[in-house]
Amino acid sequence: MQTAPQPSEIPVAIPARPPAADGTPGTPGIPAPKHGGWWGTIEDQFALRQLISEYLTPVETNNFWYALGGVLAIALTCEVLTGILLTLAYLPDAGQAYNVSRTLIGTAGWSVIINFHYWNAFLIFGLVMIHMVRVLLTGGYRGGK
Ligand code: HEM
Repeated sequence: MQTAPQPSEIPVAIPARPPAADGTPGTPGIPAPKHGGWWGTIEDQFALRQLISEYLTPVETNNFWYALGGVLAIALTCEVLTGILLTLAYLPDAGQAYNVSRTLIGTAGWSVIINFHYWNAFLIFGLVMIHMVRVLLTGGYRGGK
């Protein structure tokens, strides 16, 4: 009969350690950090190397469908930023809103921002739908990875 593995038998990730100042080598097989000083300390304390530059993307999720959430996050950020810019020029007045929008569309610079904001909203909607279908089909909503 198979028994559950003991905690000592479960492989754990070894945190990367830079070589010490006295010359003690770092973790074998893990490259030494590129930065020393205060930035190296921040990278160490917040485990930034393990989270970003040394993070290994699982092969089965390294594809287009799993990138959509990230694309969504970028699209959403751009939508918020262009929205904030538009509040500088837009007048929330029912009598003036149409003319203000027409003027913005006809003005160089603002036309790019208002058009981007408009079309990006459709893109976000479509991406959310595709993202949710991906999550549903791959069972990404289930816990325990
Ligand atoms: C603006 C809206 C959204 C953003 C920015 C966003 C962002 C992300 C990101 C970055 C990931 C990880 C990478 C990926 O799998 O693509 C992710 C995964 C996930 N998202 Fe979203 N998401 C959004 C909307 C939604 C909605 C509406 C749902 C469900 C109703 C959802 C459910 C999930 C689930 C369950 C996962 C984990 C999938 C897995 O681990 O396989 N997300 N999301």
